[in-house]
Amino acid sequence: MVDLLIGGSPCQGFSFAGKQLNFFDPRSKLFYDYVKALEVLKPKYFLLENVKMKKEYEDIISQNLGVKPIEINSALVSAQNRVRLYWTNIPGIQKPKDKGILLKDIIVDGEVDRDKSYCIDSNYYKGGNIKQYFEKHRRQIVFTKKFSEDFKFRMLYPIECERLQNLSDDYTAIGVIDGKKVKISNRQRYIMLGNAWTADVITHIFSFIPDEHLNNVVSLFDGISCGQVALEKAGKIYKNYYASEVDKYAIAVTRRNYPKTVQLGDVTKIDWNVFLENMKKD
Ligand SMILES: C[S@@+](CC[C@H](N)C(=O)[O-])C[C@H]1O[C@@H](n2cnc3c(N)ncnc32)[C@H](O)[C@@H]1O
Repeated sequence: MVDLLIGGSPCQGFSFAGKQLNFFDPRSKLFYDYVKALEVLKPKYFLLENVKMKKEYEDIISQNLGVKPIEINSALVSAQNRVRLYWTNIPGIQKPKDKGILLKDIIVDGEVDRDKSYCIDSNYYKGGNIKQYFEKHRRQIVFTKKFSEDFKFRMLYPIECERLQNLSDDYTAIGVIDGKKVKISNRQRYIMLGNAWTADVITHIFSFIPDEHLNNVVSLFDGISCGQVALEKAGKIYKNYYASEVDKYAIAVTRRNYPKTVQLGDVTKIDWNVFLENMKKD
């Protein structure tokens, strides 16, 4: 029996920031792999996260899952504006209360001109510039000199991005590949952090799960396993955590932080009936 199925399928095809390619985009089609898993595994609880998208795409997802999404801005629990949709059958979820966390409180040094960071996405590693920052309102920067002097700025450090996602400092700094610890490059850290869930939003959602003990959790598109961070923070005790992920750096980071995770590989290649049979044997 699967107690919880979670996932945030790659969203570029749905995103307002992307080209609106919708369900024909191969990355968004992975949503249907989530639906397939849901149909076969019949978990007690499920959670699907995605970006804010055109209403017609949102409705297709809602029809497939049988529930409407709750919209939550990560800014309520962190110093980052990140509006996301969450479809779940976990009962009674209310939006989190505003914790009042400000960007100036989480940066290591320098100064900022906003209370909340712009959303960190998987392109953040490309860096920003003043024009883009002030005109397009994206790619958060930190001023290293007072605003009155000439503008000197830097990108957010990876640990600041970790803080924006409610992860511990250096959560993504080291990975494990072939049993050996490896240093993860800043570029990879930014990509994974830009893709990640804001852990405390998920913690908040999981806190509404009535059960304290869960046997089997299945996480699709697991990334750096923010799902496990959230389960821990919500005080949920779980026996097995099965993760489907293909990115070697994300898997490496998960191996470092959660060595007991069972990695299932590419979601498109998983036969969920076989998976269920094997799970019963364990
Ligand atoms: C939006 S991110 C999800 C991140 C995750 N929620 C977290 O908190 O880190 C989507 C993830 O799906 C992964 N992915 C892409 N294609 C996949 C596939 N065929 N099977 C499994 N994972 C895949 C990507 O590598 C990426 O890490």
